[in-house]
Order: sequence, then C-alpha cells, then structure tokens
Amino acid sequence: MELIRAIRRRRMVRRFDPGRDVDEQTLTGLLGLAASAPSAGFSQGWDLIVLRTQEDRDAFWDSASGDRPPDAWRAGVRAAPVLVICCSSPAAYHSRYAEPDKGGRPAQEQDWPVPYWDVDTSMASLLVLLGATDAGLGSLFFGVPGPAHDAVRAAFDIPGERRIVGVIALGHEAERVRSPSLRRGRRALSDYAHDGRYAVPWPGGEGDR
Ligand SMILES: Cc1cc2nc3c(=O)[nH]c(=O)nc-3n(C[C@H](O)[C@H](O)[C@H](O)COP(=O)(O)O)c2cc1C
Repeated sequence: MELIRAIRRRRMVRRFDPGRDVDEQTLTGLLGLAASAPSAGFSQGWDLIVLRTQEDRDAFWDSASGDRPPDAWRAGVRAAPVLVICCSSPAAYHSRYAEPDKGGRPAQEQDWPVPYWDVDTSMASLLVLLGATDAGLGSLFFGVPGPAHDAVRAAFDIPGERRIVGVIALGHEAERVRSPSLRRGRRALSDYAHDGRYAVPWPGGEGDR
C-alpha cells in the first residue's frame, strides 16, 4: 500500500475478531519496523514486550484493569490476539547524552525540556501502527491508567526505570466503532499550521488529503 494511503487509512480499531490470529512472520515484520524510527542521539530507547498467549494477555488485562468492571471497550479490545507494551528508557538517553558528542554532561546535569525517550517510543509505535494498516490488520494504541502502571510492570518484570508509554493491540478488525472523540472533527490545516508567526494561519489548501 502506498505510504500516504496507509497514513490516511489508519484508524484505531476497538473491536477485534477473536477468531483470527496474527501470523508470526507478519508480527515479526511489524516489530522490525520500530527499528527504522528516528531517535534523539540514535538512542533507540524503546522496548516492546509482546504478549501473544492467552495467559499473558489475561495477565495484562487483570493488572491493567484493576477493579474496573468490564465494559464494551474492554470486551472489544480484549479480543485482540496480540498486545505490545511499549516502554521507554530515560536511562538510555541519560547515558547517550553523557557521551562527548552529545555534551558529555552527567545525567544529573542534563536538561530535558521534552522527554525524548517518550517521543521516540511514540514514533516507533506509530511505525508499527502504520505497518499494521499496510498489512491489512487493525491496531489500537491505548494508554495504561496511571494507578495500574506498577501492577503491569510487576506482571511482566519490566524494570522500574522503564516508563510504560502505551500499548498496541493488533489483530483483525471485527467491526468499525467510531470513537466519540472523532466528533471533535479533524483540525484544519490552516488551524494547526502557521505561516512564519503563530498568529498567521497557513494560507490555503487542504494539504495532501
Ligand atoms: C497517546 C494516545 C493514547 C490513546 N489512548 C486511547 C485509549 O486509552 N483508548 C482508546 O480507545 N483510544 C485511545 N487512543 C486513540 C485515540 O482516541 C484516537 O487516535 C483518536 O480518537 C483519533 O482516531 P483515529 O486514530 O482512529 O484517527 C489514544 C491515542 C493516543 C495517540
């Protein structure tokens, strides 16, 4: 599929077909796309923990859901045959930026106005999402509620230093469910692109829609 088409077609999927798995070769290919993501200092500070057995997926949902009662969202996403926990590593950046070509300052003296570890992990995640669309699969990126992070970390032996940026669910789409958030409408190009100064909107056109 042409890249721009895949970008335009990608939608978050929230109802997966429980009867259709993702074959290992396809899954390996999708995970491999993360390696092509850009990263600050080429630190590549992401880890992807792939859950593909029923036991592991149940352990994820048990640890991530806490006491919350089951709902339609969870039932639909829970059917996904693959979950990928996307973790970032601040330490990878602290040690990379302590190297001479990156300033050589020890971690405690470094200034991080933007957490590049989370930025890069998000970029890697997006490549997996786009690759899934290209492969004819459905995908969803979703967050783990804050109070559940420690339980998820414990369930999968994720080191304490790692941050759980989000989770990708992968599988075959069963049914299209429009997120209520989409009612907000997509921002117009002229609303988010600015021409030279913040107050000046981009002059025209709809971009590559
Ligand atoms: C950081 C992040 C967290 C998200 N968390 C959730 C989530 O917890 N549950 C969910 O259903 N969708 C989640 N989404 C998906 C958004 O709701 C979705 O991307 C948005 O509504 C636009 O829809 P689209 O991606 O299908 O175009 C998340 C997306 C991002 C980027």
